[in-house]
Amino acid sequence: MSKLSHAHWSSKLTFILAATGSAVGLGNIWKFPYMVGESGGAAFVLVYLLCIALIGLPILTAEWLIGRRGQENPVNSMAELAKSAGRSKGWVMVGVSGVLGAFLILSFYSVIGGWSLSYTLSSVTGDFTGQDADAIGGLFSGMLGNPGQLLLWHSVFMLLVIGIVARGVTKGLEGAVRTLMPALGVLLVVLVGYGMTTGYFGQAVSYLFNPDWTKLTGEVVLAALGHAFFTLSLGMGIMMAYGSYLGEEVNLLKTARTVVIMDTVIALGAGLAIFPIVFANGLDLNSGPGLIFVTLPLAFGNMTGGMLLGLMFFLLLTFAALTSAISLLEPVVEFVEERTPLSRVSATLVAGVATWALGIAALLSFNVWSEVLFFGLNIFDLLDKLTSKFLLPLTGLGVIMFVAWGLDKEGVRKELGMDIYDFSLWNLITRYVAPIGVLAVFVSSL
Ligand code: TRP
Repeated sequence: MSKLSHAHWSSKLTFILAATGSAVGLGNIWKFPYMVGESGGAAFVLVYLLCIALIGLPILTAEWLIGRRGQENPVNSMAELAKSAGRSKGWVMVGVSGVLGAFLILSFYSVIGGWSLSYTLSSVTGDFTGQDADAIGGLFSGMLGNPGQLLLWHSVFMLLVIGIVARGVTKGLEGAVRTLMPALGVLLVVLVGYGMTTGYFGQAVSYLFNPDWTKLTGEVVLAALGHAFFTLSLGMGIMMAYGSYLGEEVNLLKTARTVVIMDTVIALGAGLAIFPIVFANGLDLNSGPGLIFVTLPLAFGNMTGGMLLGLMFFLLLTFAALTSAISLLEPVVEFVEERTPLSRVSATLVAGVATWALGIAALLSFNVWSEVLFFGLNIFDLLDKLTSKFLLPLTGLGVIMFVAWGLDKEGVRKELGMDIYDFSLWNLITRYVAPIGVLAVFVSSL
């Protein structure tokens, strides 16, 4: 969010678009499918859906509520609310860990944004045309093995993000989200349609929705929980910042539901587009972060009009990644801007260059630094796991505990526009189900 003035959203639709722009990104189309593949399918998907509904939705609502009440950036909003509720100053740490997490996430997020840019180019130069699975796989591993190429595209992506955030043109992007998000939806439908022609669509559906509960380990549940946070942009104060621009008339819970549904539909759509191709070509379910880059180009290379569709798809993916990346850089910039005498542009540069530099470490872990391991993880995996499995859930836990236990109940009930019955359900979920759920997942995975 630009903090030119503490303005309010011009309309509720604009707000929904901006929040959706942050939520829908690489998490839905790149990360969700490969996590499903790594975790063995439907059991992961169902736990993920449960986490979204019981934990993600209330926390999204809670973040907006804090932001709207605090009318400030996340760190200050938390401080303000904690003070007026007579709570400890320690709650500010929830805001601070959010900023740190945003920085860590963006560093590797930008590397993948770079892959998407690189594939946008490849789709028009005919790299995919008529290729088989081996050739497409070779293309991907060729890119990973080439630090120069990765660095180039990571830098281009980061430059775009820095350029947009420095100018504070977030508002202009909302218009773009309005047209491009539906376009992405339509393209996914086309790809799901292609999946139906492969003869493996039924197998994909059953893989996604018919659980084999023996695949359910503590590790899988934690992955599902962490991803619920990641995909909804929770636990980093970003949604709090968005909420601070919200007018009183907006019904938080209903709006949260809309955003959550859109986000989930896009992730499931990506799954339905990708897995038929995986099965039809006998590809490895456990392809990790490369999954969409070794599946979708196969489809584009072997269908009529595939070049155009491929171009559109990777452009839209890049765009979805950009709108999310902007929401990740913004809080870091605000943090730097407030704590130093730097102007907005300089603060953006400092935050952006620091993120870019850490991103280089992440991209080197695919090649020259692949043997550099911490706790058995390379740098890319470390950044990913540290944020999704620790920072996001723990910060989210802080947020929900604060709203459920720290704020006055009656005020929260009125603010959410709930009657006594709905509110007792809300209370049950936010006071017990969500926090205990998060804690239980943690403990069981340790
Ligand atoms: N939700 C985005 C995605 O799915 C990523 C993202 C943007 C994010 N802002 C965030 C993740 C804040 C965690 C916290 O691609």
